[in-house]
Amino acid sequence: MSETTAIRALRGRLLWFVDDPHDAGEAAHRYVADGLIVIEGGIVRAAGEAGALLSSLPANAEVVDHRPHLIMPGFIDAHLHMPQTQVIASYGAQLMDWLNRYTFVEEQKLAQQGHPEKLATFLLDELLSHGTTTAVIYCSVHPQSAEALFRESERRNTRMVAGKVMMDRNAPDALTDTAASGYADSKALIERWHGKGRQLYAISPRFAVTSTPQQMEAAGRLAAEYPDCHVQTHINENRAEIAFANELYPEAGDYAGIYQRYGLLGPRSLLGHCIHMTDREWRRFAESDTVAVFCPTSNLFLGSGLFDWARARAEGVPVAVATDIGGGTSYSMLRTMSEAYKVLQLQGQSLSAFAALHAITRGNARALKLDHLIGSLEPGREADIVVLDPTAQRAMAHRLETARDLAEELFVLVTLGDERNVVATYVMGERVTPTQNSLL
Ligand code: GUN
Ligand code: ZN
Repeated sequence: MSETTAIRALRGRLLWFVDDPHDAGEAAHRYVADGLIVIEGGIVRAAGEAGALLSSLPANAEVVDHRPHLIMPGFIDAHLHMPQTQVIASYGAQLMDWLNRYTFVEEQKLAQQGHPEKLATFLLDELLSHGTTTAVIYCSVHPQSAEALFRESERRNTRMVAGKVMMDRNAPDALTDTAASGYADSKALIERWHGKGRQLYAISPRFAVTSTPQQMEAAGRLAAEYPDCHVQTHINENRAEIAFANELYPEAGDYAGIYQRYGLLGPRSLLGHCIHMTDREWRRFAESDTVAVFCPTSNLFLGSGLFDWARARAEGVPVAVATDIGGGTSYSMLRTMSEAYKVLQLQGQSLSAFAALHAITRGNARALKLDHLIGSLEPGREADIVVLDPTAQRAMAHRLETARDLAEELFVLVTLGDERNVVATYVMGERVTPTQNSLL
């Protein structure tokens, strides 16, 4: 290791994944009870036993002692809405009413000077304080909303995937673009931000209901022109939504067929919800390697239904997990997995703590095709890291007095944990929490 660049090392209990626990069982994770992560230039250079690694550090290395806390890769959230940070916890409606009554009202405020900046600052503070270091984010229809998010993310050097929503019908006039302007504005944002530093662009037709065929075609054209951008949209969340989508596109055969027809399915396509899927739709997903995004707190809150993870696995469809703020009710990926566990329990399925922690780190990184960069503590990865204290809450410390092994401790963490268990969050090796919540 070089003597000239600053080296920082974090000491604690290391936990990360090299495989999916569902496939590889115990061999999927790496756990080092007294471990050290060595970081240089924001990149993990080594992760392993502290004893061996400490002796190889140069004299000027800074060692941060986080013992006895857990050190994991930063969490990844595969789907949320920046404009809905002030919609979260809105009472008494299912999807279509909820969009019209609450969401489309709040989203109009992003046209106001300074509002996108306020929401972007709030959102990134909130994500980082919950240990989430990468998120896939819908901004509003206004290009300046994505601009504000990317600017704030670039300032913090976080790796975010985001896009301006495209929406040219079935929404208030103040929230619609056109096929042409949605294309041009998205293209300009891609040219400006995609691959700039750590920022990545997601082409974001909101869902088939709010896009004309002309706009869907424009979104598909963007996806073809920029094949390394993600595509994000929604599908099969709610029965009324599905009926509406199929009515608008009768020739497509089914809802997934609409997106397929316009070239919007594929390995970088992240389709939110996927609850009420037909056999043919599962096949369309599997054949195109499209990612299903499971949003448990949202699906429960909006009464949408239960995501069938076992079916997705059986069909060979990759799954990502997400908060879906503000249909979702928590920024915490731990709390999200606690609700995922319950959604699966209701269907006779299960979710081990290892599988849950894999999902919000390496699992989501793989689903986003970013696992060469994030989601792990393997050397060469970007040093986005969360430090967790499973005893930080009194009820958890009390419960953990009876825990017999790591699996049990981690299950308590996943079931009861939230941002109170986050001791520190690091972005590219720099500590970024506690945040200032400067606008609150
Ligand atoms: N479908 C289309 N837009 C949205 C949204 O903002 N939230 C949710 N949960 N579903 C959607
Ligand atoms: Zn959503």
